[in-house]
Amino acid sequence: MSWIKVLPREQLPDGHRRVVEANGRPILLLSVKGQLHAVDNVCPHMGASLEDGQVTDDGTIVCPRHHSTFDLHTGEVIRWSPWPPGVGRMLGSLSREKALSVYATRVEDGSIWVDVQGLD
Ligand code: FES
Repeated sequence: MSWIKVLPREQLPDGHRRVVEANGRPILLLSVKGQLHAVDNVCPHMGASLEDGQVTDDGTIVCPRHHSTFDLHTGEVIRWSPWPPGVGRMLGSLSREKALSVYATRVEDGSIWVDVQGLD
């Protein structure tokens, strides 16, 4: 484990989100129904920011660009955009599914900490 303190807890009220940097990488923090999530703010499909992605009640986030959908708890792909617009179905079928990177979080001393082990 490699924990980094990223934000005072009071700066992320429930239902809000913030992008922070950890080891030079943008991490999207979300507070959903009292639960904290930390995920890469880089969509594995084509690299769009997930900051404005729709969060569903069942704990998924939908990329605002091509609507790939990921589980916020595990990063698992729920729905992979079949192809980038303008590329076409044949080339798009070569696009391989990649899970979203998720990070463990904890609250200690009034701050949010993220385990960034594995981030370079
Ligand atoms: S960049 Fe996110 S679905 Fe394409």
